[in-house]
Amino acid sequence: MNLFDVYPINPINIVKGRGSLVYDDKGTEYLDLYGGHAVISIGHTNPHYVKRLEDQLRQIGFYSNSVEIPIQKQLAEKLGHVSGKEDYQLFLCNSGAEANENALKLASFYNGKKKIIAFTGSFHGRTSLAVAVTDNPKIVAPVNETENVIFLPRYDEAALEKAFAENEISSVIIEGIQGVGGIHVAPESFLQKIRALCDSHNAVFVADSVQCGYGRTGKFFSHDFAGVNADIYTMAKGMGNGFPVGGIIISPKIKPAFGMLGTTFGGNHLACAAGLAVLEIIEQDNLLQNASEVGGYLIDELKKFSQVKEVRGRGLMIGIELPAELAHARKELLFTHHIFTGEAKPNVIRLLPALNLTKAYADRFLEAFTTVLNK
Ligand SMILES: Cc1ncc(COP(=O)(O)O)c(C=O)c1O
Repeated sequence: MNLFDVYPINPINIVKGRGSLVYDDKGTEYLDLYGGHAVISIGHTNPHYVKRLEDQLRQIGFYSNSVEIPIQKQLAEKLGHVSGKEDYQLFLCNSGAEANENALKLASFYNGKKKIIAFTGSFHGRTSLAVAVTDNPKIVAPVNETENVIFLPRYDEAALEKAFAENEISSVIIEGIQGVGGIHVAPESFLQKIRALCDSHNAVFVADSVQCGYGRTGKFFSHDFAGVNADIYTMAKGMGNGFPVGGIIISPKIKPAFGMLGTTFGGNHLACAAGLAVLEIIEQDNLLQNASEVGGYLIDELKKFSQVKEVRGRGLMIGIELPAELAHARKELLFTHHIFTGEAKPNVIRLLPALNLTKAYADRFLEAFTTVLNK
């Protein structure tokens, strides 16, 4: 049987990972500033993480949500504490798309309305509603098309006000920093405007934190920079450091009812063990502060390169926009300097490393980047 060929892949077979480094089957070492697409939050094969998963697997790996699973409550408590959203409620699922799907559905259950506002440049996943609010017609199948989604120009307050005036809005979904869209930071005033309009129209503010959340920007949720709370935060990627786990946290004003949401795998014992290990390391090693410091250092240094068109982002979520003549930079970083980075169209290098990236590794990247740009 062949694999269904949907991924353009690099001819590299990664067989081992340690912290911010990965190794291929020939023993070549790579610096990982991509984290498998922002997934590796505490570094590869962190010993505490590995031990927690091993210990859990020896006890029990899975049972369904038909019985008590105390480790879910431990995870919820820890997440409330580390994120500062102690009074929110946690629903666990398995991926970012699923988290957004559940958030938008829950918003509609809550206020009985149908219309969702999304923004140009957004990416929210590939399942039915998640892809319908994603601004990429190429990945929206005819069956996913719906009249319930209103796309507005990114960060346009007048358009937002008009859409609220003319429609019965159920929810607004926005990334605190657009990831796939090319690292665009939502202005704080725009997030505050969403909050105000959602309040006055009984709409639900959904903060997609799948990529920009979980401490990556130096605050637990990047939306927190605006000083307002969303009603639902969606999470995945960094939450399990590679173990598939996603979730939404829900404001106390939205009340649960049996059967409203559900999943077979979501919240299983192993996923919760992974999630707890990640939060324990984030807390113990002060990773929000590290993301802020090392990320801030990288951003400042990158802004000094005259060849770079623009540097955008916060903490360890950084976009480096290059002119067309430097389109080769990313491949060269990978194949000559053995550094993994991400990309966004048309010509943005994305840095999404583990939150415990050291300054020494940041310097290793800056040195290689200097060589690549000056060639
Ligand atoms: C902002 C954002 N939301 C949602 C998703 C979808 O997550 P998943 O691939 O886990 O379904 C992604 C994935 O890249 C993302 O970047």
